[in-house]
Parts: sequence; C-alpha cells; structure tokens
Amino acid sequence: MRKVFMTALIFVLLLVSCSYAEEIKIGSCIYRFNDAFMLRFRNAMTTEAEKEGATITHADGQDDQPTQDAQVDEFIQAGVKVLIVNPVNRMDAQPIIDKAKAANIPVVFINREPSIEILNTYDKAYYVGAKAEESGQLSGELIAEYFKSHPEADKNHDGKLQFIMLKGQNGHQDMILRSRYSVEAIRAAGIEPVEVASAIANWDKLEAMKIMNGFVMSIGPENIEAVIANNDEMALGAIEALKIVDYNKGDKDAYVPVVGVDANASALDAMDKGEMLGTVLNDADNQGTAAVKLALALASGKDINSIGYEITDGKYIWVPYQKVTRGEK
Ligand code: GAL
Ligand code: CA
Repeated sequence: MRKVFMTALIFVLLLVSCSYAEEIKIGSCIYRFNDAFMLRFRNAMTTEAEKEGATITHADGQDDQPTQDAQVDEFIQAGVKVLIVNPVNRMDAQPIIDKAKAANIPVVFINREPSIEILNTYDKAYYVGAKAEESGQLSGELIAEYFKSHPEADKNHDGKLQFIMLKGQNGHQDMILRSRYSVEAIRAAGIEPVEVASAIANWDKLEAMKIMNGFVMSIGPENIEAVIANNDEMALGAIEALKIVDYNKGDKDAYVPVVGVDANASALDAMDKGEMLGTVLNDADNQGTAAVKLALALASGKDINSIGYEITDGKYIWVPYQKVTRGEK
C-alpha cells in the first residue's frame, strides 16, 4: 500500500516539475532588432518562454520583408511548433499566413497589426498588441492637460495650440492612429490644434533630431507650443534638437512640451530631468508574456481561454496603454 502511494506521489511530483511547454520550439520574427521598444518586447518573450521551459529563437528581419519571409521558411523547415511574427510590412502578412497554414503551424502576430481580412484566412492566426487609438488619445490628453494648467504654454496668446507632429513608419497602425487621435483628444479637450509642421521620422531618434533641427531653425522654438511624437525615440530626438538652442534644459522660459509613446527607460530618464513632459506606457512585458502564453497554448493544444489574457473576437489579445508623467518639477 505504502509503495503504491510513494510511486503515485513521485509520479505527481514529476508531472508538476515538467512544464507543459517543455521542448516546444518557438520561431520569433522581429521586424528589426535595432528598435528600442522591440528590444523590450523581445526580452519579455524570452523571459516568459524560459519560465515555461520552451525554446524561443528570434530572427532579425532587418526591416526587409523578403529577408523576413526567408526567415519564416527557415523556421518552418527547422520544425518550430509555432511562429510569433512582428511583420516588416503588416499589409504583406498574407504570404506568411499561407506558409504557416500549409505547414499547419499556428502564428501569433505582434505589434504590427495585419488586417482582419488577412487574419481571417487562417483559423490559427492571432494578434497580440495594444490599441493604437488609445495611445494617441492618451498622449493628446497629456498635452491638453499641460496647456490648460500652464497659461504661458500659449506662447503667441491666440488660444490655439501650435504643434509639431513626428510620425513613425508609413502605414504602421500606430503611425496613422496615434497621429489622428492625439490631435482629436486635444480638440475634444476644447483646444484648437494647429499643425505648424509634421514629418515622418520612422521611429528613429537620429532622424527625428535632424528633422526637428530643421524645424527649430525655420520656425523658431518660441513659435512651437508642443511636439507630439508617435514614439519615445523620436521625442528624444526632438529634445536633442531643442537642447542645441538651449531649450528643454530645465529653464521654464525656454521649454517646449514634448510627448512620446512607449515609456522606454531613456524617456523616463528625460522626464526625471524635466526635459520631456510625458509618455504613454506601451506595455512590452504584458504583450510579450501574452504572445508567448498564447503561442504555447496553441502549440500544445491547451485551451487558449485559460492563459490569463482575454481573447477578443476569437483573434485578439489587447493590452491597455497607460499615461506616464512625473508631475511638477
Ligand atoms: C510601436 C512603438 C515604436 C516602434 C514600433 C515598431 O508600437 O511605439 O517605438 O517600436 O512599434 O513597430
Ligand atoms: Ca498658441
């Protein structure tokens, strides 16, 4: 009797110590490694996969769709059980889905949202991300709140907000919707937004710095009442350009409120120094964790409704954004 009990006990102990995801290989395609936010995302996925005893391999798409397509082929040939894909061009996701479908491998898209028409062509295709319009709305609110509580922010005293918009890569849902909804939020707060300039800086700090440098020279920092950037890197680039003309160095009379999105460490740092007004948390930890949990459930046949993240419309996991400020300095 005792022997039977001991054997059963050992069996149960073995069961709990072997994670269900042991041995599962995940192939992860990142649009490019050289992206501060996607680095956070990647690290979150690695951490979660390791926790579950699974193996995750990340491939650098180098911002080139053909390169990424080849990496998808390689992962499938190498026998991965599931793919996580951050498409270079979200509108070109169809061939990736077709390949995954042909190999009967589930695919979880992240960060760059394929259209619902594309997602609907495969019952094992999903998307994990955050609602772009929400981040736009929240960053617009940050600017509106500042403008309302700081009368001096209306530099030309016309009651309107003269702003510059720095945009991410063309066609990205976060580029389109953050740009639109940030301005909408300012209008909804009762402030008339006036765009004095806008440009695409491709999520990139250096590119944004160069562009903003041009704007500062041609428009004059005293005529810029806000900079709205689609992400933190571009916000930080704009701040670099403002610092060249001795703006945003802590002097309240020489300041342009700048907002971004992501809440990367470097942005939080700039906020601590009083150089940057605020940002919106793009929750890489939760998105990365959710993507891996979903991928592992799909690969192992586990119920996807039991992973601790809500599945919306049978296809989506949405992780909320959050405003981040540092209050008055
Ligand atoms: C956005 C993020 C950007 C950039 C981009 C890449 O969500 O805010 O910083 O990482 O994704 O697709
Ligand atoms: Ca004004």
